[in-house]
Amino acid sequence: MKSKLIAIALTAGSLVAGAAPMQTITINTSKKGAAIPETMYGLFFEDINFGADGGLYAEKIKNRSFEFANPLQGWSIAGKVEVKNDGPFERNPHYVELKGTGHNDKHTAIVNEGFFGVSFEKDSVYDFSVYARVPDGGKAKIEVQLVDEATHGGNQTYASKKIEISGSEWTKYTCELTPSKTIHKGKLRIFLKKPENTVDLEHVSLFPRNNVNGLRTDLVQKLADLKPGVFRFPGGCIVEGTDLATRYQWKNTVGAPENRPLNENRWQYTFTHHFFPDYYQTYGLGFYEYFVLSELLGAAPLPVLNVGLSCQYQNHDMSAHVPVDELDPYIQDALDLIEFANGPVTSKWGALRAEMGHPEPFNMKYIGVGNEQWGPEYVERLAPFVKAIRAKYPEIKIIGSSGPDSEGDKFEYLWPEMKKVKVDLVDEHFYRPDEWFLSQGTRYDSYDRKGPKVFAGEYACHTKGHNQNHFGAALCEAAFMTGLERNADVVEMATYAPLFAHVDGWQWRPDMIWFDNLRSMPTASYYVQQMYGLNRGSRVVPTSIDKRPVAGLEGQNGLFATTAYDEATKQYIVKIVNTSDEAQEVKLDFKGLKGKFDKANVISFHAEDKDENTLDHPNTVKPVEYNELFDATAAPVVKVGAKTFKIFRF
Ligand code: AHR
Repeated sequence: MKSKLIAIALTAGSLVAGAAPMQTITINTSKKGAAIPETMYGLFFEDINFGADGGLYAEKIKNRSFEFANPLQGWSIAGKVEVKNDGPFERNPHYVELKGTGHNDKHTAIVNEGFFGVSFEKDSVYDFSVYARVPDGGKAKIEVQLVDEATHGGNQTYASKKIEISGSEWTKYTCELTPSKTIHKGKLRIFLKKPENTVDLEHVSLFPRNNVNGLRTDLVQKLADLKPGVFRFPGGCIVEGTDLATRYQWKNTVGAPENRPLNENRWQYTFTHHFFPDYYQTYGLGFYEYFVLSELLGAAPLPVLNVGLSCQYQNHDMSAHVPVDELDPYIQDALDLIEFANGPVTSKWGALRAEMGHPEPFNMKYIGVGNEQWGPEYVERLAPFVKAIRAKYPEIKIIGSSGPDSEGDKFEYLWPEMKKVKVDLVDEHFYRPDEWFLSQGTRYDSYDRKGPKVFAGEYACHTKGHNQNHFGAALCEAAFMTGLERNADVVEMATYAPLFAHVDGWQWRPDMIWFDNLRSMPTASYYVQQMYGLNRGSRVVPTSIDKRPVAGLEGQNGLFATTAYDEATKQYIVKIVNTSDEAQEVKLDFKGLKGKFDKANVISFHAEDKDENTLDHPNTVKPVEYNELFDATAAPVVKVGAKTFKIFRF
């Protein structure tokens, strides 16, 4: 038989043939299992850990519109600088006025510290822009510089341009800067030059020319390399906000970026009580950009909206939430969002989408209502949303929540309620330790096939005591995910969380991709997601040991396995995770197969339990790919090392 075998394996430890009794995994090729949804393996994006501003959004200037609670936060000033608030952008009214001091040419200045530094690379082009005017008319000159941090008596300048400002009308000025040296933690400095006419500056911006729709190219590439089927945004807890005033409101995130009002980020406060006072959302990365990114990635967009509840962890008093009879504006936001995404260009919100550059609809099919909510207060708010969305947009699939826990009171209460409310999917969250992941291989086998589908919307293995992106945690995720795939008839989508973290400003760990201002690196969990995402297949093929699912059950030597058939490539894709400390030989008995295999393409992933990638050593943990040859057989014997995840494509 000419078909190829691809095996993906995560391996930890050397293989000692015969160390454990050989298991036979039966793959019943005469039975077609469930279709595997294209949405199965996706992405969860939230602006946590400086994932948006300071992260994916490529803007390098912090507090570019002078709208933080302290309008000069992120800026240092010299000479005569005054903050004013009657600027050209109604919803971001602050700006700065620079006046001469009569001293030297460089006395009045503003300096931006960026997000953990303004970083720039030698010979790369950076686009600077600023809105400016000379309030009394006439002309003035500024000088824009990229500098390093002052050491030994003064900053060194690595790029510099002069801009002449003229007239009293607010005008956008631009220039490009090409640094002569790479600096990881530099600054942007703007001087008022002589003759010192007063000048006003607003919305100071600096982007690397190398960006994708305003987003960091390296990070977008890492997302694309996962081939995600669904893209959930904008969170997470930020959907709820620290309070209702700071909840995520999508309408504030569309239209001209200069006029998108700033919002406090709910992750200024963390569960561990660290405080990040300079964490805000500029919404430069807003809903339009999220939809465009989903399209670019080929992922179904999945926006999540506030249900009228602020963060329930932080707000125990019902007065902090919207009364049920006052939900109309929130429901209208949901209906308007669907119009923004899918409506004709003649509709109000469809017209805005077209004006922003995308007349074609975004083909949105899913909407989440509420993030990690719980209790009757959630159910009674969700119900009117469902009614209104069903009435106007019956084709849209609605996602409800089963709360913050993978089981327990909140979870047990909500699942039946979600069935009653008739949502299409239920969003389950589980940040749990190794043992939990290894005990949940059959979690979805017993789920009701007639009820709502599952969206495993936030999950990650949190190894007790250290919560790091160790290989061992990723191996547990790989094992657990065999159960997602085997149950593709009930699990429609799954997204690891959180996605991004800045090494200098994180609030939550582990995360899938870590970065600093210039570099980024995939974690072991990233590779597990990628192995699944690139090897999804289209149909489940029933796979068992002695008629039982291969799910780390008693007598199965810590093996987990699932098989998919890829109708496009006509390949069987066998995923095996050996979570035991022993290398194992496994016979793959392809029952009912017409023909034999002589080869498999194998992806193998193994490292030591606590191995992890870092920005300085990004390749410590990485899968390897190779071909394995067999004597023509319908029952190949494969080797899976201890603590190893392997994928075999036959
Ligand atoms: O992913 C981090 C947080 O975990 C999310 O914001 C929230 O939904 C959950 O508690």
